[in-house]
Amino acid sequence: PPWRALVLTLFPDAFPGPLGVSLAGQARDAGIWSLDTLQIRDFGLGKHRQVDDTPAGGGAGMVLRADVLGPALDHASTLSPDAPLIYLSPRGTPLTQSLARSLAEGPGVTLLAGRFEGIDERVIAAKGLKEVSIGDYVLAGGEVAAMVLIEACIRLLPGVLGASESLTSESFETGLLEYPQFTKPRDWQGRAIPDILLSGDHKKIEAWRREQSEKLTADRRPDLLHPPHQKRS
Ligand code: ADE
Repeated sequence: PPWRALVLTLFPDAFPGPLGVSLAGQARDAGIWSLDTLQIRDFGLGKHRQVDDTPAGGGAGMVLRADVLGPALDHASTLSPDAPLIYLSPRGTPLTQSLARSLAEGPGVTLLAGRFEGIDERVIAAKGLKEVSIGDYVLAGGEVAAMVLIEACIRLLPGVLGASESLTSESFETGLLEYPQFTKPRDWQGRAIPDILLSGDHKKIEAWRREQSEKLTADRRPDLLHPPHQKRS
């Protein structure tokens, strides 16, 4: 069966968005993965299908109701019984290549994309939601974050990347930032391709690339050179 992404959202029209084109779109057309959305408002209350309400204790914004999200997540679990339930939130554990790899190895993901100030906290424990953040900034909602998580997983699925797009040399697989790439023309606006790359000496080229990767990483991401001990998720 395909790897299955199921997204609970108030904005299903945002999907597939960029997941419908290029690598992800072709893999979906090939049946390697599937994408479905569940409209949270279909579980809304009353004539107006209300999904949110004011925060208990006061304060700005609106909070998605537990008695709406509960049934929506229960329905999602009947559609995708074995997929982990993930709530996209800036409070979550960071999305890493390692987390993407372990999610890609499973049956798929069920993602809750929030809007407003958040969701009723009781839903998180009651439904066993895992909170995941795509980075230390705040988006208007979880839809784009859900797409980021899905895309990171999809390109790791068997058969998605061709031999020409191998994973092995890229950032976060080697643990270093990627070395610089060049292509024709050999000279462009007074800037030449480094001679060593045109030398045909593959040992020297490999050593040069390694050195470039190490320099870039030390400059821009010294944290990657001294990784904290981390459990594989
Ligand atoms: N929703 C809003 N901001 C987010 C973030 N940084 N990561 C995941 N979901 C979010």
